Amino acid sequence: MSDKPILVTGATGNISSLVIPQLLASGSKVRALVHNADKAKSLSDKGVEVVVGDLENPASLQKAFDGVSAVFLLTPFGEKADALARNAIAAAKKAGNSYIVRLSVIKAGPDAPTANTRSHGQTEKDLKESGLPVAYLRPHYFMQNIFGSLPTIGSEGIIYQGMGDGKLAMIDVRDIADSAAKVLLDRSHAGKTYSLTGPVSLTWHTVAKAFTAVLGRPVKYVPIPSEAVADNIRKIGWGEWAAAVMRDYSAAYGSGWGDFVTEDVKNLTGHPARSIEQFAREVLAPALSRK
Ligand SMILES: NC(=O)c1ccc[n+]([C@@H]2O[C@H](COP(=O)([O-])OP(=O)(O)OC[C@H]3O[C@@H](n4cnc5c(N)ncnc54)[C@H](OP(=O)(O)O)[C@@H]3O)[C@@H](O)[C@H]2O)c1
Repeated sequence: MSDKPILVTGATGNISSLVIPQLLASGSKVRALVHNADKAKSLSDKGVEVVVGDLENPASLQKAFDGVSAVFLLTPFGEKADALARNAIAAAKKAGNSYIVRLSVIKAGPDAPTANTRSHGQTEKDLKESGLPVAYLRPHYFMQNIFGSLPTIGSEGIIYQGMGDGKLAMIDVRDIADSAAKVLLDRSHAGKTYSLTGPVSLTWHTVAKAFTAVLGRPVKYVPIPSEAVADNIRKIGWGEWAAAVMRDYSAAYGSGWGDFVTEDVKNLTGHPARSIEQFAREVLAPALSRK
């Protein structure tokens, strides 16, 4: 095991916050790039070396990237994600030959149907051109996105989505984190691409049935037009770029774009990908009971 730390970006977010404890448990040293110092106390309490830096500010990054053995490169969802990733890639190149594990998205590429997927495609291209050793993780739609529907599940027993009867192999974020930890700890994954999915492809009707069974109260899926999804995103203030991305994801998933399953989680972690029932029992039900 390397004596050098593994750098984790997005350290306070959904995925990275689940990756860090696994790296620490393996005996690795962990350095976290944190953009908001106020959120970093719990990380330093766990023995993580915290470096404050902003992916938007190249000058703030070098101290985080210097002297690491590997980097978990996660950029926040948004219009500037590919520019933030370019800043990180430049810092990684300047630091040397560190191994990068890139958190991308399913089917990243220039011809993809959403601006977010194309932006991730651009970053994959930038990483390939950097010459750095890189492993790519391309996760499917997160089960945890359902947290956006907690208010209507709680008040009306309804999930509103714009994906019609489309099937998608949504994944529990815990499986993404488990996979990322394995790939970060083994540099032989460099050059490989893993498409991380849940165990089965589901319509939202099937998801609602699973929630009904696990929660013991009726939950129904009500399809809405993809334009209505965009309007809802505008209303919560995420802006025009995110509204168009969510509209385009909805239309793509509605047409079956996400209807595929891989064995990559099982092959990487040794355990099957978590089911929607397991997610409902272990994550959704406790979250609803806290509300
Ligand atoms: N949702 C999905 O279904 C889905 C599916 C596939 C792939 N993805 C991809 O997953 C990624 C998001 O992962 P996630 O949900 O784990 O992220 P997340 O929970 O939104 O966390 C984002 C992290 O980035 C940090 N951050 C924000 N702006 C920063 C900046 N300027 N400099 C440094 N750090 C900054 C945040 O810090 P603060 O907490 O301090 O703001 C936070 O730690 C995106 O690339 C998205 O495209 C999402």
